[in-house]
Amino acid sequence: MLPEQILALADEDSPVFLGAVGSLVSATFLDEPKISDAFKTGKGVGWNKRSECLFCGTARFFRTSYKHYLVQDWLPALAGVVDKLKRGAKVADVGCGHGVSTRLMAEAFPNSTFYGFDYHDGSIETARKAASEAGLSGRLQFEVHSAKTFPAHAYDLVCFFDCLHDMGDPIGALHHTRSTLADDGTCLLIEPFAKDRLEDNLNPVGRVYYAASTMVCTPASLDQEVGLALGAQAGEARLREVALQGGFTRFRRAAETPFNLILEARP
Ligand SMILES: C[S@@+](CC[C@H](N)C(=O)[O-])C[C@H]1O[C@@H](n2cnc3c(N)ncnc32)[C@H](O)[C@@H]1O
Repeated sequence: MLPEQILALADEDSPVFLGAVGSLVSATFLDEPKISDAFKTGKGVGWNKRSECLFCGTARFFRTSYKHYLVQDWLPALAGVVDKLKRGAKVADVGCGHGVSTRLMAEAFPNSTFYGFDYHDGSIETARKAASEAGLSGRLQFEVHSAKTFPAHAYDLVCFFDCLHDMGDPIGALHHTRSTLADDGTCLLIEPFAKDRLEDNLNPVGRVYYAASTMVCTPASLDQEVGLALGAQAGEARLREVALQGGFTRFRRAAETPFNLILEARP
C-alpha cells in the first residue's frame, strides 16, 4: 500500500483512519432484509436488533475523531468544563455503545468519575470488559439504561456521542438529562456534521451520512417510542429546537470537524 492508503485504511491510530467503514457496509448488507421489511411496515429496526459488526464498526469508525479531537479540542471548547474535569467531576456518557469516548475521557481526567449508559446490553458488556482491561473499572462504570431512565448523580457533564438522533424520543431524553445535571452542568451533543438545508449536504460526507441514516439511524429511531426520526443529517437549527424543547435555555456550536458538530446545551 502507498503511505496515504496506509493512513486511511490500515493504521487505526491515524487521524484519517476510515477502514471501519467496511464493517458498517457489511452490517447494512447483512441487515438489508430487515430494513426492506421495515420500509414496508414503517416499524423501524432497533439498534439492539442489528448484526454484531455494526456495533464494532461504529466504535472503530467514531474512535478516529474521538481519539484525535475529544480531549484535545472538543472538551476545551465547552465553557469551564475542563477545569471541573481536572478538579474532579461527575460525567455521564449516554448511548455510550462500546464506551470508546468514556474511556478516553476517563484516561485523561483521573480525578473524575464516569458513568456510561446504553440500552443495548451487549454493548455495555463489551464496554465493561474494555474498561476492566484498561484498569479503569474503579471510576468508570457501565450500566444498561435508556436515555430516559439513567440515574441522576448531579452530573457536571452529560454527553451524547453520535446517538441523540438514533433515539426515538430525543426531546424526552434531553428533558431527563436536564433533571440529572448539576445547576451549572453542561450537556455535550456530538452529532454528524450537517448544514441545515438538504441541498447544502449533497457532498461526499453528506452522502455517506444520508446512506447511514437510511440504513441505520432512522430505522433505529422509528423502533422506539415517539419515533421522531431526526436522521443523521438533522443540522444545527433542528438540533437547537430539540434542545430548547428538552428544557435547555442556552445552545451554541462549540466546535466542528468535517465529520462532527460539537454542540453545547446548558440549563
Ligand atoms: C451510533 S451508536 C453510537 C455509540 C457510541 N456513542 C459511539 O459514539 O461509538 C448509537 C448508540 O445509541 C444507543 N441508543 C439508541 N437508543 C437509545 C436509547 N433510547 N437509550 C440509550 N441508548 C440508546 C445504541 O444502543 C447505540 O449504542
